[in-house]
Amino acid sequence: MPESKKAHAARGLPACALLVVASLIQGACSFGSETRGADAPDSTGEGTPVPILIAHRGASAYAPEHTIASYELGIEQGADYIEPDLQITSDGVLIALHDLTLERTTNVEEVFPDRFREVEARGVVTRVWPANDFTLDEIRTLDAGSWFDPSFAGAVIPTLHEVAELARGRAGLFIETKAPEVYGNLGHDMEAQLLSALAELGLGDPGQDQATPIIIQSFSAASLELLRYEHGTLLPLTLLISGQEAAAEWLSPDGLARAAEFVTGVGPAKNLLMADPAVVDRAHEVGLTVVPWTFRARNPGDDFTTVQVEMVHFLEKIGVDGIFTDNPDLFPRAPAGGGS
Ligand code: G3P
Ligand code: CA
Repeated sequence: MPESKKAHAARGLPACALLVVASLIQGACSFGSETRGADAPDSTGEGTPVPILIAHRGASAYAPEHTIASYELGIEQGADYIEPDLQITSDGVLIALHDLTLERTTNVEEVFPDRFREVEARGVVTRVWPANDFTLDEIRTLDAGSWFDPSFAGAVIPTLHEVAELARGRAGLFIETKAPEVYGNLGHDMEAQLLSALAELGLGDPGQDQATPIIIQSFSAASLELLRYEHGTLLPLTLLISGQEAAAEWLSPDGLARAAEFVTGVGPAKNLLMADPAVVDRAHEVGLTVVPWTFRARNPGDDFTTVQVEMVHFLEKIGVDGIFTDNPDLFPRAPAGGGS
């Protein structure tokens, strides 16, 4: 968003809202305590223990990603937050799904063999079944579990509402707006829909349900700027960062300072922090939390024998504030610096 539009949008917020945004961003920097203060809303949720454990697509090492089974297991394994990625059905319903298309994680090819689109990339044509070509009722007929293991046959793609009701009172939601520009081009408004859904759920304001804190994340800075400036949300926002180009744009001292104007945290790919661990101190200096991704037992980083060793390194040595992992049960729950 151009600077002038951001300033205009910010001017459109009531002065009290701007003050609250400023205090939210400041409040995000109380590191080193065992829990976040209940009187200081921040980017990890009021009263949430730090470092925070985020069950990535649920406990997705053990159950099919983005299914109720996976989220339920993530909560049972102690996650502070479960992580739904968002897509939108043709009839405008927010669903929890990582990919824009259905064929990787469902049996859509069997159920709707003719409803594909052909896409061409580097001279190769493939068939895809975009989620946005199907109504929620159609998507509900799909098996979203068998691809992972036959024991999960019959699992369905859940709506955001269903995921939120599962989490309510038990864990927070770390919600990703996925490809919001794609949906904008299709006539949907993912940011407005998300905030409307959260308001309906009674989760739209920071601290509204302290047992179900909300953080919104996105790779799209524009999406997060819209949420903060156009829609005026006061919820914590995390900017995801992947690749050298985005790292150069956002993880320099200047980039982090710019990010701190509209988000409360950054979520870099973990390799970016291995290459430049000083990012964490730089982010903390401007009041941003740092929550890297994705930690997996099946492929820990090259420098580590196990994912547990890797997670301890990131928490204790690099000093991150939380971790996205497919293996919530392996998260080293002891407070950072507090022994094993
Ligand atoms: O949101 C953090 C992480 O989930 C980003 O990667 O592709 O798994 O959504 P992805
Ligand atoms: Ca994600």
